[in-house]
Amino acid sequence: MCWGSHGDRISHRSYEGRRLATSVRDLSRGHRHRTRQVPPWEKWDGGHLRECRLLVRDTHRILGWAALSPVSPRRVYRGVMEVSIYVAATARGRGIGKSLLQALVEQSENYGIWTLQAGIFPEDIASIALHKSCGFREIGLRQRLGKLAVAWRDVLLLERRSKKVGT
Ligand SMILES: CC(C)(COP(=O)(O)OP(=O)(O)OC[C@H]1O[C@@H](n2cnc3c(N)ncnc32)[C@H](O)[C@@H]1OP(=O)(O)O)[C@@H](O)C(=O)NCCC(=O)NCCS
Repeated sequence: MCWGSHGDRISHRSYEGRRLATSVRDLSRGHRHRTRQVPPWEKWDGGHLRECRLLVRDTHRILGWAALSPVSPRRVYRGVMEVSIYVAATARGRGIGKSLLQALVEQSENYGIWTLQAGIFPEDIASIALHKSCGFREIGLRQRLGKLAVAWRDVLLLERRSKKVGT
């Protein structure tokens, strides 16, 4: 497994690799419904913070990735980012998600980010447990926030306020 202190960076090449692209699609469809398209690299690249992107891989494949995107273009919220994290189904339950999220938190604090947030479907028990184990707390359930195909979805909002940045 390739895992340095800050992991690998997500590059155009790794993004275009089938597994990372597939996992982006899985995340955006909420794991249940077909989606039309994986976003092209340029769109993904433009929407995620360059300084805080992590990738874990073994010799042959990508095992997981994590990245941040701004929640708002307004300057007042420049230190607030939304977490995306994904571990390949065959690699789950081995601590990779926790290593990724801990490293992402550390990188984000080094970069001056003061709040990380995550919007998670309430049935995603593993993801909720992962975020809580990394210092996120529940803010509340946002009702009928997203529409996936024909179904309205509640989304649980969690956040982690840094005790090092912006104190
Ligand atoms: C959520 C996800 C990233 C977790 O990755 P993972 O590598 O399996 O997680 P880890 O093995 O590092 O476990 C992290 C913590 O979550 C807990 N956990 C993991 N799977 C769990 C499950 N199915 N039920 C309950 N707790 C679980 C672990 O016990 C661990 O807690 P601890 O540190 O207190 O012991 C992975 O399941 C995933 O990619 N899911 C699909 C994508 C997704 O939902 N992403 C989040 C939306 S942004």
